[in-house]
Amino acid sequence: MNYRDDPAALGALVRDAEVHRDVYTDPGVFTLEMERLFAHTWIYVGHDSQVPKVGDYFGTTIGAQPVLMVRHDDETVHVLYNRCPHKGTRITTETCGNTGRFFRCPYHAWSFRTDGSPAALPLPSGYQNEAFVVSQAAQGLTPVRHVQNYRGFVFAKMSDAGPGFADYFGDSLSSIDNMVDRSPAGRLEVAGGVLRYMHNCNWKMLVENQTDTCHPMVAHMSSAGTAIDLWKQAGEQNPKPMAVEIYAPFMSPYEFYEKMGIRTWDNGHGHTGVHHSIHSNYSAVPGYFDQMVAAYGEARAKAILDENRHNTIYFPNLMVKGPIQLLRLFKPLAVDRTLVESWTFRLVDAPDFLLERTLVYNRLINAPTSVVGHDDVEMYERAQEGLKANGNQWVSLHRLFEPGEAAVSVDNGTTERQMRNQYRAWARYMAVAP
Ligand code: FES
Ligand SMILES: [Fe+2]
Repeated sequence: MNYRDDPAALGALVRDAEVHRDVYTDPGVFTLEMERLFAHTWIYVGHDSQVPKVGDYFGTTIGAQPVLMVRHDDETVHVLYNRCPHKGTRITTETCGNTGRFFRCPYHAWSFRTDGSPAALPLPSGYQNEAFVVSQAAQGLTPVRHVQNYRGFVFAKMSDAGPGFADYFGDSLSSIDNMVDRSPAGRLEVAGGVLRYMHNCNWKMLVENQTDTCHPMVAHMSSAGTAIDLWKQAGEQNPKPMAVEIYAPFMSPYEFYEKMGIRTWDNGHGHTGVHHSIHSNYSAVPGYFDQMVAAYGEARAKAILDENRHNTIYFPNLMVKGPIQLLRLFKPLAVDRTLVESWTFRLVDAPDFLLERTLVYNRLINAPTSVVGHDDVEMYERAQEGLKANGNQWVSLHRLFEPGEAAVSVDNGTTERQMRNQYRAWARYMAVAP
């Protein structure tokens, strides 16, 4: 099927409550996602604390595009395509570093300021011709068209199509706000490195899983369930180990997840954990509440800490977990290959114990060595294989479906409404040709 030339066929991949398997398996659909979905929407690039000093850069990708996030002389953060305007050479190959005031291409030494503008060329007299002067090459490193730094979280949109930042995210920014507000200083810093984990499956399977509340008690029985059994056998003496405190809520019954609630917003964003979540009952950290009260006053401090959202999806490929201070970025590499990055944050001016818990959580749940993570990856890879079966070409998203459902809602926490919300946005952004 050539979806590029057949908009009707592309649109028909998403029904009200099911999606065609080609959204996960067709390489042509994947290419169109890179050209359209990842160009017309706001994609998370990185956190500005990763580039604290002038000249610091961080190399990453937006969809399939190599980019650099860099701190310019005026302290603003810029996002540039990582490609020399001369012959196309990658400007940097390191994941991060400091370039000083200029980037210098290693091939012929063209150099550029950290906002991408051209700085110098060797033998410049050779370029005093009109054709060069008016060319794109003379402009330097191409900036990504739209960049927004929201409370340290840097997003970019490559295309002029698609909504502005505030319209795109709307009220969903409240989840980022809550994570940042949990710092008495109102500031986060990336800390503890990043965990990278390769998955042989389509990226959207991971995004769907973030609000799939009917799988933990089943798929994680062998890991989280075993941890709880061992704890029971040990006699449940106090204090409860941090690992048990983190694993145990995963095994909560369906009713817990039903009552937790799911909120959906327009443009494919949404979150689990409206009323409570698996993060609600972590032990108090000595001194932290007092620091929060000193910073915000008692009522506001309580309101911030009572918000225990579980997973917030920033469509298309970011998940933020406020109460445990981490985010996961699902980077599409191929139709059946996804790199997951899990980044952890320090709440500036909060007790170190919070970062310690964040790091333990990340290692237990998101690391390549995580026993819980292996449960999920096996399910995704089985699905990627199973979707080859021809008997049924559709994936079901019917749970608690209601015809004509609105984009913005709060529902029973076991609904698949957020997944349907994502696919409605997917179909909308895929329909806009570049
Ligand atoms: S390729 Fe970069 S200077 Fe020639
Ligand atoms: Fe899981």
